[in-house]
Amino acid sequence: MGKQNLLLLITWMYFLSLASSFSTTSAPAVETSTFIGNISSNSTDWMVDFSDIESKFALRTIEEPEDDLCYVVPGQRDTIKECNFNPDTKTFIVIHGWTVTGMYESWVSKLVTALKEREPTANVIVVDWLVRAQQHYPTSAAYTKLVGRDVAKFVNWLQAELEYPWEMVHILGYSLGAHVAGIAGLLTKNKVSRITGMDPAGPSFEYADSQSTLSPDDAQFVDVLHTNTRGSPDRSIGIQRPVGHVDIYPNGGTFQPGCDLQNTMLMVATTGLRNMDQIVKCSHERSIHLFIDSLVNMKQQSMAYRCSSKETFNKGVCLSCRKNRCNKVGYEVNKVRNRRNTKMYMKTREMMPYKVFHYQVKVHFFSKSKISYTDQPMKISLYGFSGEKENIPYVMPAMKTNTTISFLLTTDVDIGELLMVKLIWEKDTIIGWPWWSPDTFHIRKLRIKSGETQSRLIFVAKEGEFSYLARGGEAAVFVKDKEAQSSHKNKRLHKMKMHGSSFQKSALEKGV
Ligand SMILES: *[C@@H]1O[C@H](CO)[C@@H](O)[C@H](O)[C@H]1NC(C)=O
Ligand SMILES: *[C@@H]1O[C@H](CO)[C@@H](O)[C@H](O)[C@H]1NC(C)=O
Ligand SMILES: *[C@@H]1O[C@H](CO)[C@@H](O)[C@H](O)[C@H]1NC(C)=O
Repeated sequence: MGKQNLLLLITWMYFLSLASSFSTTSAPAVETSTFIGNISSNSTDWMVDFSDIESKFALRTIEEPEDDLCYVVPGQRDTIKECNFNPDTKTFIVIHGWTVTGMYESWVSKLVTALKEREPTANVIVVDWLVRAQQHYPTSAAYTKLVGRDVAKFVNWLQAELEYPWEMVHILGYSLGAHVAGIAGLLTKNKVSRITGMDPAGPSFEYADSQSTLSPDDAQFVDVLHTNTRGSPDRSIGIQRPVGHVDIYPNGGTFQPGCDLQNTMLMVATTGLRNMDQIVKCSHERSIHLFIDSLVNMKQQSMAYRCSSKETFNKGVCLSCRKNRCNKVGYEVNKVRNRRNTKMYMKTREMMPYKVFHYQVKVHFFSKSKISYTDQPMKISLYGFSGEKENIPYVMPAMKTNTTISFLLTTDVDIGELLMVKLIWEKDTIIGWPWWSPDTFHIRKLRIKSGETQSRLIFVAKEGEFSYLARGGEAAVFVKDKEAQSSHKNKRLHKMKMHGSSFQKSALEKGV
């Protein structure tokens, strides 16, 4: 059985247990209005009825990031002071998701610590809805409405008691907690500043209406990280469709590097089968660690790029930053609100810091004879002003005589300004016919665009007009073409002068 198949099998076992709870439980199918309050009436009486709040709001500290030591209780003004709530700084509200164990997962204290390190004076509040989150999945999913209402009451009360500004509230929700955050944001009297959804849960929500899920209407700005959206929509752990203003799909959003079978089986082997859910959760939870990364590794800010699909992104054609097409990932995101959801893509490393550098490489394959290959193993080396990355493995999807191909290449090293590129075409089989001359493409130049610096460079054969890329042969070497670069710059300058009004147009397209 292949690795992939085994992983699929394990995922399926997990899902079968999920699915069985779908069918056997009669989820509390209570009317939305009963849960949320009577939206059609203007009465807000329910908002100040604190008697039915079951969620708890713990103000955590940097000294004890793991423990709920002090609860701020809606309706009890004294608790604000007792917990040392700081009315002059921003507040993060962290909401967990479904839990099998009924305990906080280890990421909670990690996120608390990262938030406190980045914003030492901020209030970090963890919402405890563990009892409701520990039910069969569909039951817990239905409870998101009640918990969201609890959170809304809490925020409304805090605002009223302290005249606390809505602009200082940032809610962060993971999995089911992301939908809790959405419902809370929908019900608060004014919109909170921001909601960050970390891989919002898919099952029960993929086809639900926007009042039941996280949506762009729930805060002034809603940003979402989608990290585990594999499979058909109704089976995906993370919601597949965009639900925010900016929806980022790291590594395509389906599955994350470092979460493969080898790594996770090792963990199961060392920690036992009860951690089997970690195999599935690795990618799901990556959304949180990407956000933590953005809080703690400020110098390694990851970038994401607007694109129509992950397939298009993998061609490298989406690395533009014009008109807000690129954005920072995580805490420092630019709050760009388009009328429609913005889907963005990025690649990452398999561990923190997750940042990689994105390059689009365009190459034209000349040849006198007709040659056509697919899925060819290449080794690509990049040499730059401040570093290098050698032998990056890349599988070239198609190589065909007299055609141009464009692809995405990433490095985890900041090589600075790119100076030289080497391509090696590996032979994928051991059996060969040494007396046959190998197939060879002639390459005149490479066009390379950097996503992170937005520079476009042309690389020419190091010697002569062409570099030769032979199957199983020597490296084809390319160096920066200084002349082409400067003339390109001039062309752009000229173009900018000709289109002096383009700024206004882009401002319009931003919308609000
Ligand atoms: C709610 O308030 C709005 C504006 O104040 C008013 O037009 C509407 O008739 C009210 N609806 C109900 C059900 O009272
Ligand atoms: C909601 O409020 C409207 C207007 O006040 C009222 O007509 C309606 O019966 C209420 N619905 C529920 C379920 O209480
Ligand atoms: C590819 O293009 C070159 C130059 O345009 C030409 O000389 C060559 O014959 C073409 N190769 C094939 C197989 O058509």
